[in-house]
Amino acid sequence: MKKIAVFTSGGDSPGMNACIRAVVRTAIYKGLEVYGIYHGYEGMIAGDIKRLYTYSVSNIVQRGGTMLKSARSEKFRTPEGRKKAFENLKAHGIEGLVAIGGDGTFTGAKIFHEEFGIPMVGCPGTIDNDIYGTDYTIGFDTAVNTALDAIDKIRDTAAAHDRIFFIEVMGRDAGFIAVESGIGSGAEFVMVPETKTDLDAVVKSLKNLRKTKTSSIIVVAEGDKEGGAAEIMTKVKSKINDKNKEFKVTTLGHIQRGGNPTARDRVLASRCGMAAVEGLIAGKSNCMAGIMNQEVVYTPFGDCIGKTKPLIPDHLKLIEYLSI
Ligand code: F6P
Repeated sequence: MKKIAVFTSGGDSPGMNACIRAVVRTAIYKGLEVYGIYHGYEGMIAGDIKRLYTYSVSNIVQRGGTMLKSARSEKFRTPEGRKKAFENLKAHGIEGLVAIGGDGTFTGAKIFHEEFGIPMVGCPGTIDNDIYGTDYTIGFDTAVNTALDAIDKIRDTAAAHDRIFFIEVMGRDAGFIAVESGIGSGAEFVMVPETKTDLDAVVKSLKNLRKTKTSSIIVVAEGDKEGGAAEIMTKVKSKINDKNKEFKVTTLGHIQRGGNPTARDRVLASRCGMAAVEGLIAGKSNCMAGIMNQEVVYTPFGDCIGKTKPLIPDHLKLIEYLSI
């Protein structure tokens, strides 16, 4: 293998740049030529591909976002789009790919590999942490710390006004951000897509808590089955039915996707990037390089997207025990 390319795809996450840097520098260290594909699968189809050098990735390890840009590609879902993408790679002589992204990215990578046989290794880049085959995903730690910082600020004002705040964090299908920011901020409740929330129990506990606490924080993952934070707040408010109590909603939104990556994310991203290139050189393909129990682990794309990563049971217990 002489030439490889790297791209980022799907929702960006802090640490993607550190991962790109590790891929580029490891490849060059190992004597490979390395190319960057801009705008993910969209750029692969459009032929937006440029050679990268050691200096191309200078001064990016500390930056959020992705220097290669990202996109969610509809065209890549079609056989014609994927054929065009493969032709562009062939025209550049690219023999291996590093795909940095989440489940959508790996779903595309798996199909592409099966159709054209091009070696592909993934790196887990998503703030959601919902990828099987790695303890943590690149960007999760930063997103949790961003959410935590915001929730701490909201708690100040919630306490000053004796209010009940429903705070919505990201996590379409997974509650990892909600759970860890909830534990860290001392939230009274956390609502996540993985478990069914009994709103009547929440109402009962909130009424009880009011004997000892005047304000409360409820962290809601955006994908909760009961709805978003606003919807849940409306339901709870009507059940509590107390004119003297004030309810507020804050949606943290895309601030969770940006910002300088934490040290944890930079190290994780660098390790995954290096492991992806080493994996390609060693003949690995159709798999993701993740870190489990401090070790590099290569997990087939099929498992990364097909198996569910469960929440840590102790985490849910912590919230229940510590919010009394
Ligand atoms: O998958 C990462 C994520 O940030 C989810 O938590 C969120 O639901 C989604 O992306 C938002 O995507 P977009 O930026 O396309 O609106």
